[in-house]
Amino acid sequence: MKNQNTLYFLFVSLICLSSYSSNHQALAYIDEGLKQCLIRNSQNQTASIFNDIYTPDNSSFVSVLQYPIKNTRFNSSDNPKPFSVITPKEEAEVQSVILCAVELNLRLRIRSGGHDYEGLSYTTPEKGDQTPFLVLDLTNFNNVSVDSAEKTAWVGSGATVGDLYYRISEKSKTLGFPAGVCHSIGIGGHFSGGGYGMMLRKHGLAADHVVDARLVDAKGKILDRTSMGEDLFWAIRGGGGNTFGVVLSWKVELIDVPETVTTFHIVKTPEQNATNIVHKWQSIAPKLPQELFIRIIAIAQKPENTVQAMFNSLYLGPADTLLPILQQSFPELGATRQDLGEMSWIEALTTIDGFPKGTDPKALTGTIVNEGKPFYFKGKSDYVKNPIPVEGLEGVWDFLRESNSGLIIMSPYGGRMEEISESAIPFPHRAGNLYKIQYIMDWSEAGREAYESHMGWIRRLFHYCTPFVSKSPREAYVNYRDLDIGRNSMGNSTYGAESKNWGIKYFKNNFERLVTVKTQVDPQNFFRNEQSIPPRSHILN
Ligand code: FDA
Repeated sequence: MKNQNTLYFLFVSLICLSSYSSNHQALAYIDEGLKQCLIRNSQNQTASIFNDIYTPDNSSFVSVLQYPIKNTRFNSSDNPKPFSVITPKEEAEVQSVILCAVELNLRLRIRSGGHDYEGLSYTTPEKGDQTPFLVLDLTNFNNVSVDSAEKTAWVGSGATVGDLYYRISEKSKTLGFPAGVCHSIGIGGHFSGGGYGMMLRKHGLAADHVVDARLVDAKGKILDRTSMGEDLFWAIRGGGGNTFGVVLSWKVELIDVPETVTTFHIVKTPEQNATNIVHKWQSIAPKLPQELFIRIIAIAQKPENTVQAMFNSLYLGPADTLLPILQQSFPELGATRQDLGEMSWIEALTTIDGFPKGTDPKALTGTIVNEGKPFYFKGKSDYVKNPIPVEGLEGVWDFLRESNSGLIIMSPYGGRMEEISESAIPFPHRAGNLYKIQYIMDWSEAGREAYESHMGWIRRLFHYCTPFVSKSPREAYVNYRDLDIGRNSMGNSTYGAESKNWGIKYFKNNFERLVTVKTQVDPQNFFRNEQSIPPRSHILN
């Protein structure tokens, strides 16, 4: 009877929420309902989860909620806040949270590293959205266990890619893993969307190397690869986070890396023929040996406003074999032996990530702290299948000159990415792509005016690039989440036909199979966010 009373109050508080002058009371009911449910579900388990629940009246709530938030766009006072953040330490606690959240029909956000470009792991993008939600933060699931003899590792979703790289390097100088560049990216979201880095052309994506996983489904069951079956195992390797369940940990196969790798960072300006060199790079970079990845970061250097195209590279081998490749295939770059730096794989990752030369690679296990400085940003992505003409590139440089801090990153494909089939995992952007563009705009000024002008810049640049990039669909990378390309309506948990819009862009033909898997494993659509795969019944045609 007591349970029923609690649920009744919870129900009343949920439906009446919008009419409360203050919703504190309602949130307290929800919180109480959740706690009651956790008590019922925890009878045979440790009750330690109660030490891991943070509500706004807890003095640590703000720091626990905000510590991994990178994007100030989602960290202001008017961004909706969860009524509770839970940081479980045991798998059984995650099961209890899921069972209770399903029972009480609570909206759940899952967070690993908190890098989601649209903040979907800890807030709702609709300012003023009053639907209560809970953040399940997996920060304590950060164990990394490397088996160098078997060349595999189990890594918790709450670990970072830097944790994984460093722990591998502690065990072996000739093993590595092909994931993202920034060390603080969380494993949970990164692997859920694919995950690429500077070894993409030789080894493909992080998700291509996942061989097992442990997941809590909407029934609160823990499944591994065998018990979840191959369809669900396929879907979680790139089908996007918060869609099929909570992935607790992943087993990955490691890759061999040479003891010596080579990096370089060569900058060209338009006065140094940058436009023509970038133009040539578009057709050369995807055809170079797979061991060689040369990306371009283009910005306009202030205050001179000179465009700089930075050729930033990792080569899996020594400088003496790299130099002749560059001289023969890409002489326009003018690389000399002095430009090339030899080091170990882990040192190369540390340097490419922006740490000063000589930094102890253990730095990769630290988190990035914004030091209180506002850092608003917006990202977008595109795939390029035919070289952009010189005049087209010049137009992009004009956009860079116009902005204070906009930049683009061009990452070459080809190599291993050509060899893996589009349907091997949900990530479909394989053969036929010369490179991917990432557009980034960041700013530090608060307020509507700054927001409008910076968001306006990136949207105009994206529009300008329309003729040069993939069409029907205009493909996009789900890990560079972009709500401009469409969203599910969350309000009453029904979905519009627009899910097909963004779904086809992120997943192409794999979208259909993802919908089928979702319909089988989570027909009630418990795991959901503004861009999660909907069950078929939720798609309006
Ligand atoms: P976060 O915790 O925000 O989760 C992202 C999404 O996954 C959310 O929807 C969340 O609910 C869901 N999710 C998280 N954990 C889950 C779990 N355990 N089970 C189920 N769902 C879960 N990408 C890339 O490929 N290469 C790169 O080099 C970079 N570099 C980079 C740098 C910086 C500074 C940023 C901010 C981002 C990148 N990215 C990137 C993009 C990155 O891969 C993407 O944002 C990932 O989703 C981040 O994963 P997190 O766990 O950190 O995010």
